[in-house]
Amino acid sequence: MAAAAATGRLVLFVALVAGSAWAAQKEEHVATAPAIHALRPLLGSGSDLGVPCDSWRLAVEANNKRNWKTLPASCEDYLGHYMLGEHYRRDSAVVVDEAITYAEGLELAGNGTEVWVFDIDETSLSNLPYYAKHGFGTKLYNATSFNEYVLEGSALVLPETQRLFNKLISLGIKPVFLTGRTEDKRAITVANLCHQGYSGWMELLLKPIGFKSTAIVYKSGERQKLQDGGYIIVGNIGDQWSDILGVPEGGRTFKLPDPLYYIG
Ligand SMILES: *[C@@H]1O[C@H](CO)[C@@H](O)[C@H](O)[C@H]1NC(C)=O
Ligand SMILES: *[C@@H]1O[C@H](CO)[C@@H](O)[C@H](O)[C@H]1NC(C)=O
Ligand SMILES: [Mg+2]
Repeated sequence: MAAAAATGRLVLFVALVAGSAWAAQKEEHVATAPAIHALRPLLGSGSDLGVPCDSWRLAVEANNKRNWKTLPASCEDYLGHYMLGEHYRRDSAVVVDEAITYAEGLELAGNGTEVWVFDIDETSLSNLPYYAKHGFGTKLYNATSFNEYVLEGSALVLPETQRLFNKLISLGIKPVFLTGRTEDKRAITVANLCHQGYSGWMELLLKPIGFKSTAIVYKSGERQKLQDGGYIIVGNIGDQWSDILGVPEGGRTFKLPDPLYYIG
């Protein structure tokens, strides 16, 4: 009896972590708890907005919700599950699979002019250790503590993005990092990228200290310079819409998930 209950709990746990309909169905056959029990903690109530947390997240990803400062406090558990379970990783994998299919289908000039723009934070490197300690985006952004964290150089690799990065190099497409991190963080950013297994990028473009405009203006301006320099931006990937909006966007853009914060 005890063993069966433990197995039931284990299966329920797996269903929670996997969060998939398939897992939920399996769980229904083995344990008695209906699938809705597995889904409830993932949905959360989202009562601040009157919408469930998954609807809120979709609105963020689709760029319908803009200029928000924090996610609803009641969604902290939901976001914790989303980010630390399989779901975030799986959503990222779908984006990267699509990007790789696109890249493999390109007819390349083969003379080294094709580049692909990568954002850094929540695209190439993950600051999840910081956000896990600071409420998964439910707390107001604190520049002081976040900068302290960045200067540790301990951000983690996002494995799906690194898979794309390495694939592009093997195809002859040069990665260019374009980040809102400022120039004074160059050394720690290079160290962090190297430590997390990145190598072979063509350029690392950081924001000049004191730059006064928006992320869209900064990033599209840098892409324009690349293009003016004779490079063809075949792809552009980032976690914020401000990474991928603004002419020239690049031949095709890819939006990675990020429900933790908004940069306009
Ligand atoms: C690279 O190849 C393309 C396509 O053939 C050509 O238009 C471009 O001028 C070449 N660029 C360089 C730097 O050789
Ligand atoms: C922001 O972080 C710093 C450094 O950890 C801390 O001293 C400060 O109290 C924080 N500010 C707020 C408003 O929480
Ligand atoms: Mg980013």
